[in-house]
Amino acid sequence: MAPRKIIIDTDPGQDDAVAILLALASPEHIEVLGITAVAGNVPLTLTERNARIVCELAGRPDMQVFAGCDTPLSRALITAEHVHGKTGLDGPQLPDPVMPLQKGHAVDFIIDTLRNAPAGTVTLCPLGPLTNIATALERAPDIAAKVQEIALMGGAYFEVGNITPAAEFNIYVDPEAADIVFKSGIPITVMPLDVTHGALITAPRVAAFRAMGTQVGRMVAEWTDFFERFDKQKYGSAGAPLHDPCVIAYLIQPDLFSGRHVNVEVETTSPLTLGMTVADWWGVTDRAPNAMFMGDVQADAFFDLLTDRLARL
Ligand code: RIB
Ligand code: CA
Repeated sequence: MAPRKIIIDTDPGQDDAVAILLALASPEHIEVLGITAVAGNVPLTLTERNARIVCELAGRPDMQVFAGCDTPLSRALITAEHVHGKTGLDGPQLPDPVMPLQKGHAVDFIIDTLRNAPAGTVTLCPLGPLTNIATALERAPDIAAKVQEIALMGGAYFEVGNITPAAEFNIYVDPEAADIVFKSGIPITVMPLDVTHGALITAPRVAAFRAMGTQVGRMVAEWTDFFERFDKQKYGSAGAPLHDPCVIAYLIQPDLFSGRHVNVEVETTSPLTLGMTVADWWGVTDRAPNAMFMGDVQADAFFDLLTDRLARL
């Protein structure tokens, strides 16, 4: 089977970094056409820098990295340095990237790539706020037919919010963009907190990364050592949730995950629940299903896949 062609849209972020590494370590399953950076965990000048750092760590200085939108569609940017640190990749000391940032805008890259692709052949993998994706869809509605699937990390239902009581960060930062994406009619698979909070990097799993004896293993261990303190303190959890790698693992081994095809809508007005993903999990409305909303992950098998693939780099 030919590898799936994807564009990773990302706001690195330690967990985004692990997701990018997993994708680049899996060429038999995934062909990364390009990486588009968006403002989210940290401002755009850092997310695009961090994306290039991760590509170089993966031995892929040839990868096309583009800078995209630096603010949400209609709101001020909210960032998450309290989780990811000032650089967005706090933990290990990392050198500045040498590989170039591509000159074009990320949204133009997304539009041009999709327009030049056969129908239904490119998967979009948003791992941060959906600003770039929504901007591309608004500017070029014709590209929707070229998208095979949008596999995204965002939202929450039973797990409720991590940035407010009701909302998950990626959706909360740009709810209007999320609303556009969820109403696009494109097949969507959602990795919400309901799943990602089951993918915790416990101490034995961090030790497995260190035991690789590689720079990648060491970087991932040091990133998670830093990244885990927020969730351990807030949730008392046994380690950092590996949010974004769940998207890439789904593309490689979809049977690691289970969920339901339900209607998902995004709150864009209420100050109390802004950014909430309202998933009709129990089918109590007549709203048409528009997303595969994942609810569970086989965590041990997920980490077996992750460590096996990262050991390749
Ligand atoms: O809420 C978790 C999400 O927000 C992850 O994608 C993390 O990287 C941040 O972007
Ligand atoms: Ca992210």
